[in-house]
Amino acid sequence: MLCSKTTHMSEFNIRVLRPADWLAYKSVRLASLKDAPDSFGSTYERESAFMQSEWESRLDPAGRAKSALPLVAECGEDPIGIAWGLVHDTDSKVAHVYQMWVSPDARGKGIAKALLERITTWAIARNCDLIELSVTTTNDAAVGLYDSSGFLSSGQVEDLREGSALKTKIMVKGLRNAA
Ligand SMILES: CC(C)(COP(=O)(O)OP(=O)(O)OC[C@H]1O[C@@H](n2cnc3c(N)ncnc32)[C@H](O)[C@@H]1OP(=O)(O)O)[C@@H](O)C(=O)NCCC(=O)NCCS
Repeated sequence: MLCSKTTHMSEFNIRVLRPADWLAYKSVRLASLKDAPDSFGSTYERESAFMQSEWESRLDPAGRAKSALPLVAECGEDPIGIAWGLVHDTDSKVAHVYQMWVSPDARGKGIAKALLERITTWAIARNCDLIELSVTTTNDAAVGLYDSSGFLSSGQVEDLREGSALKTKIMVKGLRNAA
């Protein structure tokens, strides 16, 4: 059962996903793509066709050419949010935020902010200079989240995905003075 609107933050747990969590990750990720198709570059149609090995390898540190912090927010054992921090090998000074999503029933209680803070702490510990993310320009909740967390628009605008009329903007936050 999902946490109710009245649940306090202390009842949530945020932890790192491991390969053994692939089924829970698959379920929450597909739920996010179904719930918020305009928020992500990828689609439910694309990822629902993934094999078990794809879900597992996403969560397997040994199988990636990048450092990742795959996070899940849980209420009891129920996943109610996810977000990923990623640092690509090609640019070790920039951490990226991907896949940010909180279940509709659990929104407005600081879960996304807590996920973002965990990624920020991780990026600072990795000596990154910057956190960067891409957000659909019309997504007021997500833009509000990143604005209130100190992210600024870089001025760079891109298409959400091929064939979509929606645009995304790049937002960044410097970390040099954040530690
Ligand atoms: C965007 C999203 C992740 C926010 O999750 P959340 O857990 O409800 O956010 P939080 O409760 O942590 O809110 C943190 C801050 O974000 C901002 N915010 C959150 N929801 C907002 C809304 N509907 N409108 C404007 N600002 C909003 C506020 O500044 C808020 O701080 P405050 O409550 O102190 O005012 C959630 O709405 C969601 O999953 N949306 C669909 C998927 C998505 O858009 N992902 C982002 C991809 S870039």
